[in-house]
Amino acid sequence: MTSPTTHTDRVAVVTGAAQGFGRAIATELARRGADIAIVDLGDASDAVAEIESLGRKALAVKADVSSPEEVTAAGAQILETFGQTDILVNNAGVYPFKDFFDVDYTYWKKIQAINLDSQFLLAKVVAGSMRDRNWGRIVNLASNSLGLAVPALSHYMASKGGVIGFTRGLATDLAPYGITVNAVAPTASRTPGGEANIAEEVLQGVANMQAIKRSGVAEDIVGTVCFLTSDDSAFVTGQTIMADGGLVRL
Ligand SMILES: NC(=O)c1ccc[n+]([C@@H]2O[C@H](COP(=O)([O-])OP(=O)(O)OC[C@H]3O[C@@H](n4cnc5c(N)ncnc54)[C@H](O)[C@@H]3O)[C@@H](O)[C@H]2O)c1
Repeated sequence: MTSPTTHTDRVAVVTGAAQGFGRAIATELARRGADIAIVDLGDASDAVAEIESLGRKALAVKADVSSPEEVTAAGAQILETFGQTDILVNNAGVYPFKDFFDVDYTYWKKIQAINLDSQFLLAKVVAGSMRDRNWGRIVNLASNSLGLAVPALSHYMASKGGVIGFTRGLATDLAPYGITVNAVAPTASRTPGGEANIAEEVLQGVANMQAIKRSGVAEDIVGTVCFLTSDDSAFVTGQTIMADGGLVRL
């Protein structure tokens, strides 16, 4: 991938960037000139080392994105370290397959908290700095599963449907401050999480329905996220872009 300096001196917060899509996004934003704050439950030291090797600053904050207290503390630490936030990529999420009859209300709420509430919480802690500078880019990870008949995912599809609704509403609320809000919807992909959670026949079956007949990999959504976090997309907001090999058509 070419690496123009489209993100020079931006500060980007990428959640879930210890691995998978988030790591690929964080690395490419750094290659394009951004400093990176990672918020992840897991160990992001490899990602930090890679970003630093590209000559950019990196901070890893260990936090659960579904915890209001931990996200508030993470936001304070990021602002103290970098002094500003320009870009937020709400990527952290989970997608365990579970039959509807095995999903109880506690589990349902947990999935909504990790996949949807987290995006609200992170937006709350970064949007003030974006408003102050009259420039901001928020990208929320959705999913193309909303357009498919994949079983045992209703809890997940509800959360990602919420992501699309939140993206549309927030785009209107933040537009007066130069902040755009968009979503990117990947397909079933061979990230660490994808390989652990999605059965091989589902990965292959979804790939066969796509126009481009191979499973996604982490790098497949990076270019779209780079566009949506750059100046080039200044007039694009409230959208959900399917970066899914041409499966779901809106
Ligand atoms: N891989 C796919 O097939 C696929 C398809 C569509 C959408 N997505 C979406 O893409 C995003 C990333 O998926 P991935 O495949 O890279 O996943 P992954 O499991 O490989 O990586 C997810 C990262 O998020 C972190 N994380 C999970 N829960 C967290 C929490 N509560 N707090 C902080 N960090 C947390 C993990 O530690 C991990 O580093 C998710 O939102 C997912 O729903 C993935």
